Amino acid sequence: MKEQLVNKFKEVFGEQETVIDSGDIQTFFAPGRVNLIGEHTDYNGGHVFPCALTIGTYAVIKKNPDKLLRFYSMNFQQIGVISSTIENLQYDKGDDWANYPKAVIWALEQKGYKIQQGMDILYYGNIPNQSGLSSSASIEVLTGYIVKELFHFNFDMVELAKICQYAENQFIGVNCGIMDQFAIAMGKKGYAIFLDTTNLTYEYAPLKLKGMKIVIANTNKKRGLGDSKYNERRKECETALLDLQSVANIQSLGELNEEEFEAYKSTIKDPICRKRAKHAVYENQRTIQAVEALKNNDIYLFGQLMNASHISLRDDYEVTGYELDTLVEAAWKQKGVFGSRMTGAGFGGCTVSVVDENLVERFIDEVGKEYEKKVGYKADFYVVDVGKGPERI
Ligand code: GLA
Repeated sequence: MKEQLVNKFKEVFGEQETVIDSGDIQTFFAPGRVNLIGEHTDYNGGHVFPCALTIGTYAVIKKNPDKLLRFYSMNFQQIGVISSTIENLQYDKGDDWANYPKAVIWALEQKGYKIQQGMDILYYGNIPNQSGLSSSASIEVLTGYIVKELFHFNFDMVELAKICQYAENQFIGVNCGIMDQFAIAMGKKGYAIFLDTTNLTYEYAPLKLKGMKIVIANTNKKRGLGDSKYNERRKECETALLDLQSVANIQSLGELNEEEFEAYKSTIKDPICRKRAKHAVYENQRTIQAVEALKNNDIYLFGQLMNASHISLRDDYEVTGYELDTLVEAAWKQKGVFGSRMTGAGFGGCTVSVVDENLVERFIDEVGKEYEKKVGYKADFYVVDVGKGPERI
């Protein structure tokens, strides 16, 4: 794999002589992520429970003697090489995917990490695009990690996650929370990350899924956060919080438990915003319980909470849609399924299911058939492993 990527790099960028200070060709990897539970809680002061995957994004990089950034993706070969100067980095719709690495370099500059030299970078990702497994955050964290390594910046990985979130919020214009960038930057093999998004305290919880597999199913319905209703949901939660603040001394929805929410909810004037807030509060509590269940080896309860999470995302948060609901409902009917729910922002993308390892094949077959019959095109399935954060390879 590494050799193929390096060859492609040479083909795209040419075999330039190594100029003083440009150093050698280097290769890096950063994972994608899947969120097990805790959806749409990260911008509501709640908890999330994601893990990094072994699929992700690879990059081949070489410094160049100019002050030019040149990006190429093997996943978007038709777009060709996108060039940009280091100064004057600006969002350009035509640059498509390359806005993500540009965003991170812009954000690093904003935070005072000045890059004195240009870079040629080739990317290759094996995360399905627009599937809700954070292919974009994977590119962001990978780019930030490369810059950190190559230019010897000494910020830590939590800071890297924050810089990448800042890049996405300010440069790309998607008001995302910290979950994706954090899960990717801080991933640890065999563990999921129980993260409190109010203060970024976190705990690694071993994913003790003996005899079980994590199966991801992609609806293949294309989506992107930018054109989704993501920012709209955020606003609805903010409106609900403002109403609640007239009676409760809270800074975020995550500070309330279910009883408190029920006691105060009538102060939320708009019934739609009330439903959104209900999801945020209950989902946060479910996430806390789910991690507890996992610690107690109670995978049945963990699965039940996953299912309840989907129902809440479907009925109260309204971010599922026909394709995700069809996949999840088909999964719930199968033998050997502990839990199944949509994962990520929603509106398309993927589901995540915990399935008895002996019944995975049958699961894929049955759910795949039912999905195609109802939706009219195929879903893709991935049996995934829990991977680690970014690394030099
Ligand atoms: C996207 C965002 C995350 C998070 C999820 C929903 O993945 O990038 O910050 O809000 O949606 O849980």
